Amino acid sequence: MIHSAVQLAYVVATALFVLSLHGMNDPKTARRGVTFGIVAMVLAVVATWIEVAAAYGQLEHQLWILGAIVAGFAVGVPLSRVPLTAVPQRTALSHAFGGLATGLVGTAEYFVMRGEGIERLTPFRTAALVAEVILGFVTFTGSLMAAGKLQELKWVPQRPITYPLQNIGNIGLLLLAVGLGAALVLFPAESWSALAFLSIVVLALAFGVLLIIPIGGADMPTVISILNSYAGLSAVAMGFVLDNKLLITAGALDGSSGLILSIIMCRAMNRSFLNVLFGAFGQVKAAAATGTEQNYKSETIEGAAQILEMARHVVIVPGYGMAVAQAHHRVRELYDFLKKNGATVKFAIHPVAGRMPGHMNVLLAEAEIPYNDLVEMDEINAEMPHVDVALVIGANDIVNPAARHDRSSPIYGMPIIEADKARTVFAIKRSKNPGFAGIDNELYYGDATWMLFGDAKTVVSDLVKALTGETGMH
Ligand code: TAP
Repeated sequence: MIHSAVQLAYVVATALFVLSLHGMNDPKTARRGVTFGIVAMVLAVVATWIEVAAAYGQLEHQLWILGAIVAGFAVGVPLSRVPLTAVPQRTALSHAFGGLATGLVGTAEYFVMRGEGIERLTPFRTAALVAEVILGFVTFTGSLMAAGKLQELKWVPQRPITYPLQNIGNIGLLLLAVGLGAALVLFPAESWSALAFLSIVVLALAFGVLLIIPIGGADMPTVISILNSYAGLSAVAMGFVLDNKLLITAGALDGSSGLILSIIMCRAMNRSFLNVLFGAFGQVKAAAATGTEQNYKSETIEGAAQILEMARHVVIVPGYGMAVAQAHHRVRELYDFLKKNGATVKFAIHPVAGRMPGHMNVLLAEAEIPYNDLVEMDEINAEMPHVDVALVIGANDIVNPAARHDRSSPIYGMPIIEADKARTVFAIKRSKNPGFAGIDNELYYGDATWMLFGDAKTVVSDLVKALTGETGMH
């Protein structure tokens, strides 16, 4: 009876996980999606707890579950408090914990089953255990390295580190782990089998580190998404070992959504998967910064305010700088003024603007800007030649026209927001420094472009003050 109720709860939780992902497809339903996810997770934990309580009864087993929940809260609550700009590394840390959990459970299960009798280690179970620990431990160290790189920790090298025969060496390491796994499946009872299993663990841990070392910071969010998918697949394998259907379905959802997200990100940056995983991309990009002096034209706040006041069609292109400056609430005020003034105002959303998927959507939603005015890249590009003013706020690579025509540019082929096609471009940034890709941006010295140098929050506040006639400008 209890077992059936638990299985039913698992089915409901699975359905809620699917609805949760579906809800997160669209900003309008994203909150509901998150709620479905929370309810599904609570249901899954409670159902598992009830099953364990019914099977074992002793308080000791329940204390273990309670301990795990307390530990989860102790880590999860502080993690949820990081600023939005640090969410990519926070996400990497969550994946690291997921990978560690599956890896440890897999290792424990292997030795428990060995202790119970070698016949418990059927070929299928052993294969699933090997897959689980390889994927789990690769995710663990790989995600820790990725988080360290993104957080710019001193002891984690930021630059891609490459050396001869690197990819062959790494793939060799992985094949060795898989080969040992195959040997375990075929000869589970041999005296060396426990040692072989532990060697697989060590090889997987090392592979996770070596996999990330040659990858540059710019590709890290994509890599994190790929690691997310490994963590999901590891949970699937764990589900087969523990005969837990919810782990199988939830892991499969996690694995496939991570993969789909990586594909979307690769497309938005015009990169291939293999290139991201084995490319040492950041190095190429950094080398491309010329640092040559270009002729930038600056505009005053008053001058820009006058043109904005006359503009009928304004497109705001937000980027990473708007996020860092936390300028989104000031941008909302500007948006309100321009709308009241009778202009059409839209936000051009590039899929990889900022440092994580949906970065701009989240910020603009926080500032309560209506979703309908957030327009995707392809749609807004068609309108660009008819736009009076494109206001670029802390965006750089995603508006760099070199991506369209300069074959030597490391971002060549990356789809961009075509801000350069607008009649007038105002670009807000603090300096002449390049963006994330480390390359010059010809948009900034285009004929129709005027720079508004300064911190995005200050500049946008000043623009609002100038437009609304308030004094006290910086
Ligand atoms: P970036 O190219 O990084 O440019 C951001 C610009 O903001 C910089 O040029 C910087 O110039 C300016 N800035 C920084 N702080 C500022 C502040 N307080 N006030 C005003 N301006 C400020 O950003 P982007 O255009 O959003 O492009 C995103 C980049 O990240 C792309 O290269 C993309 O491929 C990469 N990336 C994104 C993702 C995802 S999923 N979003 C994943 C992987 C890689 P100053 O220093 O002169 O102010």
